[in-house]
Amino acid sequence: MKKKISVIGLGNRGTEYMGFLKAFHSAKVVIYALCDIRQQALDDIAPQFGISKERQFLGTDAFFAQGVLSDGLIIATQDASHYEITKQAILTGYKFILLEKPVSGVKAEYDALCDLAKQHNVLLIICHVLRYSNYYGKIKEIIASGQLGEIVTINHTENVGYFHFAHSFVRGNWRDEFTSTPSILAKCCHDIDLIAWFMDSPCVSVSSVGSVKYFCKENAPDGATPFCTGGCKAKKSCPYDAEQLYIKDPFWKAKFIKYMQRTLTGKAKNSRKDVEEAVRHGDYGRCVFLCDNNVCDNQIVTMQFANGASAVLHMNGFSDKMFRECHIVGTKGELIGYGTKLKMNIFGGKSKTIHTFSPNIGGHVEGDIRLVAGMVKLLCGESTDLTNITTIDATVISHDIAMAAEESRKNGGKTVLLK
Ligand SMILES: NC(=O)c1ccc[n+]([C@@H]2O[C@H](COP(=O)([O-])OP(=O)(O)OC[C@H]3O[C@@H](n4cnc5c(N)ncnc54)[C@H](O)[C@@H]3O)[C@@H](O)[C@H]2O)c1
Repeated sequence: MKKKISVIGLGNRGTEYMGFLKAFHSAKVVIYALCDIRQQALDDIAPQFGISKERQFLGTDAFFAQGVLSDGLIIATQDASHYEITKQAILTGYKFILLEKPVSGVKAEYDALCDLAKQHNVLLIICHVLRYSNYYGKIKEIIASGQLGEIVTINHTENVGYFHFAHSFVRGNWRDEFTSTPSILAKCCHDIDLIAWFMDSPCVSVSSVGSVKYFCKENAPDGATPFCTGGCKAKKSCPYDAEQLYIKDPFWKAKFIKYMQRTLTGKAKNSRKDVEEAVRHGDYGRCVFLCDNNVCDNQIVTMQFANGASAVLHMNGFSDKMFRECHIVGTKGELIGYGTKLKMNIFGGKSKTIHTFSPNIGGHVEGDIRLVAGMVKLLCGESTDLTNITTIDATVISHDIAMAAEESRKNGGKTVLLK
């Protein structure tokens, strides 16, 4: 019998996971019920998955009123709603939950969910998708093999991409730490999760600096207008011109921007007119220097681990492309990672380049698709091995580190001790 999965939150992430379930796992699982607060989302998505009206729910009250509808539940709503929805899901009786990251920007909330999951014997998996990719899996394997000796230090950079940063963290859903979460948590909790996973030693102290350096009104060029289409005099030379980014659609950014058009209009399928209308009047048409953003566009976090090792995470919102770099240094060798390619240098020995396979489907190298595959295996009882699975208790240290980094940053970079 196929396992049933329900989904709350039919946006970019929720529908990506649903697409993978349908395309690759439909022999084993079926998408059973859907919930969103937007009728448009239900109308767009339910027919694609053959979900009848009785199994579509507008809002979580209606959804949870039905009791437990399925074997598994995916929660892919925005950050600030994760705590309440997950708590309600656990109390309703769901035993297998996949929750989008970050869990919450409030320590008391993510700690409470950790405890609640334990008390109710719930497998609560956080979508720290990077861990599931071949690439990061290979790094973990090399570290565990001892070839690099003991890890001394890690230098990891998250290059967010200037157009991605402007889209999500200046104009978009993650621009305000009070309605969402600080960018170091929203964007980098899974980078921090990787560092902690590689290090395999408790993080004991954190310090951080960072700022909203560029995306503020002081940097607005002469003649800037609140909307790019409002007669802005700097439009021609501005790389953030919304019309250029969302309508003229330069080829190399096309994949990301097209994917995000749903975010602009709230609709799964868009005509050019829909997008033009959104750019003229919506959040994503605003001048990046005249928005209401407050999350850092650059931040550095330093971490000290109990075994004496250290790490640095550098988040920047200005790179030309979206990519992560990682330099892992051990007592016997080093590993330099560029995305899918790794260079390993053994001191006084050989160097080699290691390519990891990525099918280029979905995001985060191919972590998204593999997370879903891992979830199906666990849900169907084909595996019970939780080693390297991103359960809440295995990954919540990343949230502690990110929140400590924010505390440090807001206090001039003072060291924050973690217990
Ligand atoms: N794992 C990753 O790498 C990764 C990447 C990007 C985003 N995220 C996280 O995934 C989550 C979803 O992001 P997204 O880009 O899909 O957002 P989105 O805005 O595209 O989708 C969210 C959906 O949830 C619905 N929703 C909001 N509140 C709801 C509620 N109370 N009940 C039911 N439905 C509700 C919205 O209407 C929308 O359809 C966020 O928490 C985000 O931070 C994770």
